[in-house]
Amino acid sequence: MRIAMIGTGYVGLVSGACFSEFGVSVTCVDKDVEKIARLQRGEMPIFEPGLDQLVSVNAAAGRLSFTTDLKTALDGADAVFIAVGTPSRRGDGHADLSYVFAAAAEIADTLAQLPGNGHTVVVTKSTVPVGTGRRVERILSMRLPAGGFDVASNPEFLREGSAIQDFMRPDRVVIGTDSEQARSVLRALYRPLYLLETPVAFTTIETAELIKYAANAFLATKVTFINQIADLCEAVGADVQDVAHGIGLDGRIGRKFLHAGPGFGGSCFPKDCAALVRTAAEAGKPLTMVERVLEINDERKRAMADRIAEACGGSVAGKTIAVLGLTFKPNTDDMRESPSLSILPPLVEAGATIRAFDPEGMIEAKKLLPDLDYCDDAYQAVDGADALVLLTEWNEFRGLDLGRIKSLLRAPVVVDLRNIYQPQDMADAGLVYHSIGRTTGAPLAGKASLKAIA
Ligand SMILES: NC(=O)c1ccc[n+]([C@@H]2O[C@H](COP(=O)([O-])OP(=O)(O)OC[C@H]3O[C@@H](n4cnc5c(N)ncnc54)[C@H](O)[C@@H]3O)[C@@H](O)[C@H]2O)c1
Repeated sequence: MRIAMIGTGYVGLVSGACFSEFGVSVTCVDKDVEKIARLQRGEMPIFEPGLDQLVSVNAAAGRLSFTTDLKTALDGADAVFIAVGTPSRRGDGHADLSYVFAAAAEIADTLAQLPGNGHTVVVTKSTVPVGTGRRVERILSMRLPAGGFDVASNPEFLREGSAIQDFMRPDRVVIGTDSEQARSVLRALYRPLYLLETPVAFTTIETAELIKYAANAFLATKVTFINQIADLCEAVGADVQDVAHGIGLDGRIGRKFLHAGPGFGGSCFPKDCAALVRTAAEAGKPLTMVERVLEINDERKRAMADRIAEACGGSVAGKTIAVLGLTFKPNTDDMRESPSLSILPPLVEAGATIRAFDPEGMIEAKKLLPDLDYCDDAYQAVDGADALVLLTEWNEFRGLDLGRIKSLLRAPVVVDLRNIYQPQDMADAGLVYHSIGRTTGAPLAGKASLKAIA
């Protein structure tokens, strides 16, 4: 089989490479000339574990190629996936669908020039609000004869940082379409997953579109729930990790996404919750719970700066703070909506000097957080600092030499916003340890705002 993947970002590139690994001939298209040039040279435009190897093996085997020319990609394609960005529209939180509709129009115009192509399935893999698939269908039918194409929704559930594994061994595949022909093309494309007995949910286009948003809003709610429980744990002397363990063992609840932290970020949860809230409001069925989740999460990120200030004795003015981790999660270079973007600027404004290190995110971070001092490694960041703040739980930060950290810090203060250290280990190393929702770790009291104490 032969497919085209429009948009070679975190989703398009991983999906394209994985389909090629399934034996499908894949042409990835992007408008970004530099990105395609790098991929043609074998350089990865993003950091995703295992991606470079997967791309190079399949490109060498002739199953995976990169181009800016849509016509080359669509020629002979059984299916074309739209995997372009759907960021939040400025001002109203609605998904900005301009990239999706532009891609649909370009696909239609190009297919019109390829009359010998036969039938093509146009698949939306981008996360799009309910109704978008039908609008894509209308764009195509204005330019193409009926019977030459079908439309399907195939939302993607991969997570950055484990994207290849998630694509290759997903919990489920969701395929929304009215067309039997589209269903059979997608069934054939995902055949290797059928062999692994991956559940495949066939739905209408509208249902498939909503499944994706409902899934992300549910997970964001779960994270927000445990974050609020963490605050309660601090107030009443309980341990959030034990609470999460205790409830997570209940099969109805599940253990995942119960890690208390600084609030969720990333390229999906915030924008997808906002878009779902818009869809629900427009449908006259407001999702007030998801609205509240977004508000609580924003408040939480802002409150983290206050926590850091309190750990520094009430003010960060003139203090140097070492920050480990800037990306929204480990194993990615993605900085979109990272908590660091909300937590660190107020500290800088309050007079702190931030010495930061992130294993893969610093190229992106430098564009978004230009006022930080960037370091070559964790120990350089910590050298002479008044506090160490752990923001992203990269594995390499789990095994730091605590004795060395203690000797490098000017004041022995550690604020761990991901609970990756054991309070006893920190105490043994002579470090004053603050963590989330664990009373054993010197919880932070008081509610002074950063502005007031700076
Ligand atoms: N990033 C994730 O973890 C993730 C997971 C699941 C779903 N999604 C969804 O997948 C979609 C893509 O997300 P992403 O993170 O890969 O985005 P991204 O910004 O990394 O990549 C989008 C790419 O599309 C390209 N593009 C835009 N318009 C184009 C056009 N007309 N022709 C060719 N290329 C074009 C851009 O140049 C860019 O390279 C979004 O809807 C997102 O919500 C993302």
